Amino acid sequence: MPDAIDLARQLRVHLDSLRAAGVLFVPRGEPLVIASTQGAHAPRSEPEPPPDPLAARRHELAVLAAEVEACDRCPELFSTRTRTVFGVGPIDPDVAFLGEAPGGDEDRAGEPFVGKAGQLLTRIINACGFTRDEVYIFNMAKCRPPGAAGSGSANRQPTPEECANCRPFFERQLDLVRPKFLVALGNIPAKALLNTTTGITRLRGKMYEYRGVPLLCTFHPSYLLRDETGERKRDVWEDMKLLLRTMGREVPPVKKG
Ligand code: URA
Repeated sequence: MPDAIDLARQLRVHLDSLRAAGVLFVPRGEPLVIASTQGAHAPRSEPEPPPDPLAARRHELAVLAAEVEACDRCPELFSTRTRTVFGVGPIDPDVAFLGEAPGGDEDRAGEPFVGKAGQLLTRIINACGFTRDEVYIFNMAKCRPPGAAGSGSANRQPTPEECANCRPFFERQLDLVRPKFLVALGNIPAKALLNTTTGITRLRGKMYEYRGVPLLCTFHPSYLLRDETGERKRDVWEDMKLLLRTMGREVPPVKKG
């Protein structure tokens, strides 16, 4: 017969495998009644209310955000960041927008897309008929990549290695947030999700799928800010119309001015 230490070990292995399979709560049932030759009756407890799966996912996201905060996988980003930038928005949103990495404004605020590119992203979100708080906003990399010394540039793109370090965080985050649609902004997230070297100009304008979520790739708002022709903005609006039609939503009329 297994002794108590053996039973505890087996129970731990069992709970670990349940957790790995996504089972986060095991309802407490009847207290275990050990058959007794003396006929003693163990007291019965009231059944617990069923766990709230949304609360469980929110809790898992908070645990993940804390793991990200403690992360030191990229020495340069770890030593230069003001704070990590995890993501904002509700879980189970209709749509989530994915950028590349925080810039200086985001590094200070701890929130993605709050600088100039973020203001443009908010306008795009609003033009689609959403408010900013209805959508989820996050980045592939959770720390600001600082500009190379002497480059005169405040930020740089995250390296493939930095993106790879952050990828397990991003994937768990996506699985917990469960957006109905995902929009990748710019080359870095689009190429990473589609595992391709093809650039955003050719990837945009079509629907794909990533981890079971319908995915659209479009230009990054920072790129739109640099494009003086206005043509890339028109392309992004075409992409947003495709997204809205695929979602079965009405396309709002374009506001002039
Ligand atoms: N650019 C991004 O890709 N993400 C941000 O959060 C800000 C700017």
